[in-house]
Amino acid sequence: MKLDLKVKIAGVELANPLMTASGCCGYGEELADIFPLSKLGALVSKSITLNPRLGHPPPRTAETTSGMLNAIGLANVGIDKFVTDKIPFLKKQKTKIIVNVAGSKLEEYVEVCSRLNDIECVDMIELNISCPNVDEGGMEFGADPIMTEKSLKAVKKVFNRPVIAKLSPNVTSIVQIAKAAEQGGADAFSVINTLLGMVVDAETWHTKITNNKGGLSGPAIKPVALQMVHAVYSNSSLPIIGIGGIRSTSDVIEFLLCGATAVQIGTGLFIDPMLIVKIEKELKQYMKRKKCNSIYDLIGKVRKY
Ligand SMILES: Cc1cc2nc3c(=O)[nH]c(=O)nc-3n(C[C@H](O)[C@H](O)[C@H](O)COP(=O)(O)O)c2cc1C
Repeated sequence: MKLDLKVKIAGVELANPLMTASGCCGYGEELADIFPLSKLGALVSKSITLNPRLGHPPPRTAETTSGMLNAIGLANVGIDKFVTDKIPFLKKQKTKIIVNVAGSKLEEYVEVCSRLNDIECVDMIELNISCPNVDEGGMEFGADPIMTEKSLKAVKKVFNRPVIAKLSPNVTSIVQIAKAAEQGGADAFSVINTLLGMVVDAETWHTKITNNKGGLSGPAIKPVALQMVHAVYSNSSLPIIGIGGIRSTSDVIEFLLCGATAVQIGTGLFIDPMLIVKIEKELKQYMKRKKCNSIYDLIGKVRKY
């Protein structure tokens, strides 16, 4: 049998399980200068909100031990400009397009998603109910099971393709939130968004980003993400997109073994924008070596004590 990297998320077929993570390659234009986006299983856009947002003033990122802290504050062009300026580019790309949607009120999420319903090249929506860097909405929705279910239900009414719920690790039970999202009609999960953190300079006594607190990403969060992917996998049959600290092919395999069907790479792209292309090649070599014909031979196959 031929080696096959294809996977399906809620009926949408991806050429491989490798996606960009939201907020880590804008709207894809710069990445397309580096490699053809057809190399991606899917491109995930920056979070789009109803109105344009400038985000927080700089500095809004800081390096940490094995990671980075960011509080960009959902800076984005807003749905109108996204449709007029970014969709024409995205439409031409030979990859699946996932638009990440955020908002500070439920009505905003609904309005943005209903606008996206009319745009054919948008294959799926990823609902960001997990952003730790905004004062309203974001993580508040994703930390409350009732709001989570309500958000999913409302969005599913206006968008007729799959909706992925992006879950926050900043909760007591991610399984409880996943179940609420599933109840609301979620078609898949993205696990995880960033962990809430803070970075301080011992010399100046100052916090290092203007929002003071921010979202931690990068290798530091990978073990947290793996555990959460595995917990959601063990309690739901919906497909999971694993996210958190991926820097190598073995990181991707660890997520697949813990139950992810696909993965997203964020912070790793800042270090090496070609990372996904390298991983795609190495993943094939790994599968040959392990005599796996399909990604599905790996999903959820972690051996536990
Ligand atoms: C600079 C930066 C901006 C981000 N912006 C968004 C965003 O707009 N929406 C979102 O859902 N997640 C956003 N994230 C979170 C990532 O999509 C991802 O969930 C997280 O960084 C963990 O993956 P990583 O360790 O591979 O970076 C952002 C992360 C970073 C580092």
